[in-house]
Amino acid sequence: AGAIALGGCAAEGSTGEALGSDRPLPAPFRVPLPIPPVKRPARRDTSTDWYEIVQRPADVEILPGVRTRILGYDGVFPGPTIESRSGRRTVVRHLNHTDVPTVVHLHGGHTPADHDGWPTDLVLPRAGGDHHTHHRAGHVTRGRRDYVYPLAQPAATLWYHDHRMDFTGPQVYRGLAGFHLIRDDVEAALPLPDGDRDVPLMITDRAFDADGALKYPAADHAAGTHDDFLEGVLGDVVLVNGAPWPELEVDAVRYRFRVLNASNARRYQLTLDQGATFVQIGSDAGLLAAPIEHRSLTVAPAERFDVIVDFSGFRPGALITMRNPLGRAGAGRVMRFRVARRARDDSTIPAALAEIPRLTPPADAPRRRFAFSRGIVPDGLGGERKGWVINGKPFDPSRVDAAPRLDDVEIWTLSTDLHHPVHVHLSPFQVLSRNGRSPGDFDAGWKDTVDLRPAETVEIAVRFTDYRGRFLLHCHNLEHEDMTMMSTFATK
Ligand code: C2O
Ligand code: CU
Repeated sequence: AGAIALGGCAAEGSTGEALGSDRPLPAPFRVPLPIPPVKRPARRDTSTDWYEIVQRPADVEILPGVRTRILGYDGVFPGPTIESRSGRRTVVRHLNHTDVPTVVHLHGGHTPADHDGWPTDLVLPRAGGDHHTHHRAGHVTRGRRDYVYPLAQPAATLWYHDHRMDFTGPQVYRGLAGFHLIRDDVEAALPLPDGDRDVPLMITDRAFDADGALKYPAADHAAGTHDDFLEGVLGDVVLVNGAPWPELEVDAVRYRFRVLNASNARRYQLTLDQGATFVQIGSDAGLLAAPIEHRSLTVAPAERFDVIVDFSGFRPGALITMRNPLGRAGAGRVMRFRVARRARDDSTIPAALAEIPRLTPPADAPRRRFAFSRGIVPDGLGGERKGWVINGKPFDPSRVDAAPRLDDVEIWTLSTDLHHPVHVHLSPFQVLSRNGRSPGDFDAGWKDTVDLRPAETVEIAVRFTDYRGRFLLHCHNLEHEDMTMMSTFATK
């Protein structure tokens, strides 16, 4: 009854049609919600935690009774969760035991350019094959690479995922995504639910072939036809932490859920049955100043919502479904909570969470405009095809489109034809306005991704700090990204 119906929305909350799976789909709410393993550091010293992750193919059971080949960090999907302390250096050695070049980006990380996962800084497979690439501008290594993250940033829900030029969509779809949480003293001092009651939820949609393989429109889309999935790839099965429509057994207490939409292209409007609500305590890049209660959450690709759900008003046995009224059929539901028992709860939701300094642009703040639209782009084979552009231009890793000065507060105006979730690397931003009016319901706090809806103009205040170099600004619909909707800014 808590579900809010929406009329007349675009197909499935995004543009484009869902791919249909070619095998019968399982009944929902039959499998328990998996929790991704928390990665143990290989070693730690006074300043640094060292990790090692092997990127490899694996055959895993996603749909009951059938094996699905994935590409996983440590062979699992989602990849293992890394937990870091704010300000403690984290070094992650990634070993590429797959058969494709990879690139790792820590999404939301305040990271120096050399470690940010520039799309042509490829890590080639450890052995075999001469992997042809059209783009030689990057720093290419073979077999492995150490990514160094200073993590001088507040507690937040980050995630890491593949960012290989032209192939981010298929490689994330095959499984290359995981959580990276940052904790700090501000968060630790708050009486929020923790331990087993602090649960990451990675939401993705996928479609499956008859034999259980992941279904993606073309294996090599540098050579394929694009028009079928120009709008982005949508599946008909919703996975949470890699399981189809799972169920989580909960105590009748408050839980903290770190909701991440890691889908390639699908937007969700999450609702809970029976009047349960989401109390948002954090956005993409950290805690909010104060909690905000929502009856539903609209989550675009790459956005994170850190929320508290209070099950204390429910009796043991109650079933509360998380739905997605934007999606048709299987995409219309996400997961279910089963209230198992009453339990003690020492958590509360404080009225004040964290200090959020306002980014106030001066009167003469530098202004830049980025327009997101369809366009005609090079097909990589000497011809042209339909694609996506920013300010009329396809991504070119050798071109710099903007050169902001470190520490300046700038105003960026983002405008769009259709739906585009816009992500800025290096530093978080604050939303100043939507279509000339106040920010929307889901724009509070520090953001690194903002959902542009059709024909909207969004103004953001952004300030880059600490690191000089080239960074990306792009659409996080991964097919749009692969079809060149990226732009480079170089901090100076
Ligand atoms: Cu989550 Cu540039 O990416
Ligand atoms: Cu887009």
